[in-house]
Amino acid sequence: MIALILIGGAGTRLRPFTCDFPKPLLPVVNRPFLEYQFDILKRHGIRDVVLCTAYKPAGFHRVLGNGRRLGLRLRYVHETRPLGTGGAVKNASAHLASSILVLNGDVLHALDVTGFLKFHRAKRAELSIALTRVKDPTLYGLVETDPSGRIRKFIEKPSWDEIVTNTINAGAYLFEPSVLSRIPPGINHSLERALFPHMLEDGARLFGYVSRGYWMDIGTVEKYLQVHLDILGGVAPCRLPVPRRRPGLFAGPGARLGRELTLDHEQGCVVLGRGTRVEDFARFSRRVCVGSRCTIGKGAALEDCVVLDGSRIGDGAVLKNCVVGPDCRVGAHAVMSSGTALAGGSILRAYSQL
Ligand code: GDD
Ligand code: MG
Repeated sequence: MIALILIGGAGTRLRPFTCDFPKPLLPVVNRPFLEYQFDILKRHGIRDVVLCTAYKPAGFHRVLGNGRRLGLRLRYVHETRPLGTGGAVKNASAHLASSILVLNGDVLHALDVTGFLKFHRAKRAELSIALTRVKDPTLYGLVETDPSGRIRKFIEKPSWDEIVTNTINAGAYLFEPSVLSRIPPGINHSLERALFPHMLEDGARLFGYVSRGYWMDIGTVEKYLQVHLDILGGVAPCRLPVPRRRPGLFAGPGARLGRELTLDHEQGCVVLGRGTRVEDFARFSRRVCVGSRCTIGKGAALEDCVVLDGSRIGDGAVLKNCVVGPDCRVGAHAVMSSGTALAGGSILRAYSQL
């Protein structure tokens, strides 16, 4: 089976980080996010992947290439102007012959693809949508099903008075090729706002498969941090990209550790990228991810945070529940508190308090 991944969105809700990278390439625990989706596909025997690009396409070619390094065959279909989620699928029609798995490119989802396909076939569905349960369905596509799983209603970004269930579109679909003829060619078209509701009006066989695996959309800064904390805390079942150096600490090649480090790893672990240096007396609590070529100053204290590649954290700085973009300078004794985020290349002078 072929998987098609939609990666053309501009990721505006994840600024400032998407100013430097398209969202699906943002590092998540020091790996480009899409690699986590590839791991899941490979686990279910899918190695043939079509990537639908629109925003910043060059980065995908540079980072992922033809996929050989990752054990995949990657092909690209580019939209010169974004065609929307439906238009992107239509635009890739030439590559799609049998049942197709379509994925949003910004979701970390431990989807049982094999179980999903079995369900789709057993229901003789024309289109199946993987569902997950969330607290606030207004941010997603609400999906109401009957007891047999047949979809009754699909409402994209419903208002609170339209909420009848907590199951939402998890951003993974199985399409029969017949669905493609329902999408008009060459124009902007939305799966969620046009195709799904229109198919329901026509009485087409749409089914919802409730997935119980870990699920998170990395679309906002808060969720981008959360997905890191979930991976480092063992809540999301993902492989860490670097070897274990000591209990609770994973470090890439060339990472150097100073003396007298404090490591409180009862609720998670610390990951350090290649060539990162940690000075004496630094303190790490809970879940911390530091990218490659970073420096963590003497006595700096980091808790539940993410520092991207090439950043320097000054002596005695305190970081908690925050994200530092790539190539930043956080001055000595500066404080970054909960919910703060520094854009790539920022300079936070000594003793600043955010
Ligand atoms: N190729 C291409 N072209 N891809 C696009 C385009 C486009 O014009 N527009 C969006 N995408 C990609 C994005 O890159 C992303 O991977 C995916 O389509 C979904 O777009 P988002 O902008 O992230 O949508 P959302 O998060 O608001 O809502 C979607 O995802 C939710 C689950 O996370 C919808 O599918 C909801 O129904 C769903 O619940
Ligand atoms: Mg999204």
